Amino acid sequence: MRNPQFKNVGNRGDVTKHRLLVDSLQLITERFKDTRTLVYVDTHAFAFRAPLSKNAGPIAHRGADDLYAQFEEAEQAATGKCLCSPGLAAGATAGFRERRFLICEKDPVQLAFLKCDFAQEGVDSVRFRPVFSGKDLAALVESAHAPFVYMLIDPFRYEHDKDAVRAPVAAADRLDHPTVLQIFNYGAPIADELIGPRWKQTSIEDYPFCNKIAWNPSADRLLGPAESHASCLLAAALATLQ
Ligand SMILES: C[S@@+](CC[C@H](N)C(=O)[O-])C[C@H]1O[C@@H](n2cnc3c(N)ncnc32)[C@H](O)[C@@H]1O
Repeated sequence: MRNPQFKNVGNRGDVTKHRLLVDSLQLITERFKDTRTLVYVDTHAFAFRAPLSKNAGPIAHRGADDLYAQFEEAEQAATGKCLCSPGLAAGATAGFRERRFLICEKDPVQLAFLKCDFAQEGVDSVRFRPVFSGKDLAALVESAHAPFVYMLIDPFRYEHDKDAVRAPVAAADRLDHPTVLQIFNYGAPIADELIGPRWKQTSIEDYPFCNKIAWNPSADRLLGPAESHASCLLAAALATLQ
């Protein structure tokens, strides 16, 4: 069966989460590209790029500094397709002197395409897995110098896939390194249920800061001014990290 994500490519939810992803990774890249190794984890990766669906909406270009819009416009001009989270993450973090990727995708056809596209783009240091495991993350982090971990958790429906969300949150929680979690929550109360006081939540309320940041863009909550508010909060939180 064709992966159901094909009918969402470029829709409002995609634009929201992808813009926040690129904004966050841009901030992190500027700040840590020379001093840390980026460990990027996509627990539900889908594709490097995919054809725009008929539910695709406008990108709404924000201005000269809008890296997300620049990436998507360049991709559409070059291939007629839309970059998905792995492709955007690869582009936004290209400035890192050292980076490692953990790309998880349960659909074997999509996983094969992901392998092909990453190889074609010349991005190496990628581990591909059908599903996330804490052991893989621990091994990656252990082999990295001064790791900075960014984890995108993006299932179709949190309610149907709780374990696939709990396992990466628990693994990230065990890490003793700066870590940002981005969980796309479809309006579900993931943060309240899963993320404890070790995590600073940038979109819900502030917890005492201790080098862990989580945020939960949803299609309803973080659009328009709230979106830039989230980026400001993340920038402020990052400023407190070494
Ligand atoms: C919402 S899509 C991901 C979209 C992608 N992250 C993006 O932003 O463009 C969810 C993907 O997760 C995959 N999937 C479902 N359950 C999974 C699991 N337990 N582990 C890894 N991938 C899973 C599906 O095949 C689908 O491709």
